[in-house]
Amino acid sequence: MKTVLMTGAKGGIGTFLRKELKGKYAFRLSDLGDVADLAANETSVPADLSDFEAVRQAVKGVEGVIHLGAFSVEGSWQTIQEANIIGTYNLYQAAHEAGVKRIVFASSNHAVGFYARSDTIDHSVYPKPDTRYGVSKVFGESLASLYADKYGIESLCIRIGNVADRPVDHRRLAIWISPRDMAQLTELGLEHPAIRFEIVYGMSDNVPHAWWDNSNAYRLGYVPMDRSDDFTEEVFKNCPEDTGDPRADHYQGGSFVSTESGGDPTKPDME
Ligand SMILES: NC(=O)c1ccc[n+]([C@@H]2O[C@H](COP(=O)([O-])OP(=O)(O)OC[C@H]3O[C@@H](n4cnc5c(N)ncnc54)[C@H](O)[C@@H]3O)[C@@H](O)[C@H]2O)c1
Repeated sequence: MKTVLMTGAKGGIGTFLRKELKGKYAFRLSDLGDVADLAANETSVPADLSDFEAVRQAVKGVEGVIHLGAFSVEGSWQTIQEANIIGTYNLYQAAHEAGVKRIVFASSNHAVGFYARSDTIDHSVYPKPDTRYGVSKVFGESLASLYADKYGIESLCIRIGNVADRPVDHRRLAIWISPRDMAQLTELGLEHPAIRFEIVYGMSDNVPHAWWDNSNAYRLGYVPMDRSDDFTEEVFKNCPEDTGDPRADHYQGGSFVSTESGGDPTKPDME
């Protein structure tokens, strides 16, 4: 059984993945504090990602990393810088020094949040982050690319939409991913023999609502088991289609594009 470090293990996705991937890996679970309720194949190694020495200890002897640890919404520059920029650098550099060869990086749809919903984008588009948080995910993807080309660390970067048991609004009909589909992509990222540096979108089978062409994930063998369209009726019954914020409704990043925004949302770049 491979030993895999999971950072951010106390968070929402970490909790889902521990359940979905139970018994498949010996998990070294890391977060700011100790992780409770450890299963037989789990150990807890607390580490602040901004502390290089602590991260160095956490990666020692592991065969793969699931890097979830981050400030996971928009935050001040200092907060984003410490947890996401310095934290992700520390993780990659410590992995390099320890000879770890495979990392699954939790990127985000907010790396491309300023694409319009009328655009269909694939893994190769130029980033258009919608927040400092989104910039930190673009940074993480760039770092993964650098460490692949320079040092041979292989990474799957998953631009995650929204991991939840069900999509709860119109935007999430496009970007939702179920916990078991997220687990499938994560396992693929840890196990696929031919990954060097790849970007995929973390969504279930979201036809006809999706804005993303996820052919790169399909090329790697991803076969989503869940469909957001199964929840269309429920969402249409419970949610208004417009949020009342034209900018948020226009762009893929939703309300993240509106935080601290200036300018006129009816300007030509909206066409
Ligand atoms: N949940 C989603 O749908 C979603 C969507 C897009 C991207 N993501 C990304 O996936 C990852 C996991 O998301 P989540 O929803 O579980 O987030 P979460 O906020 O629930 O969990 C993140 C965890 O990281 C830990 N953390 C924060 N700063 C840290 C630091 N300096 N050192 C060590 N640990 C630290 C937190 O304590 C927390 O337990 C994040 O990187 C997030 O940006 C999540």
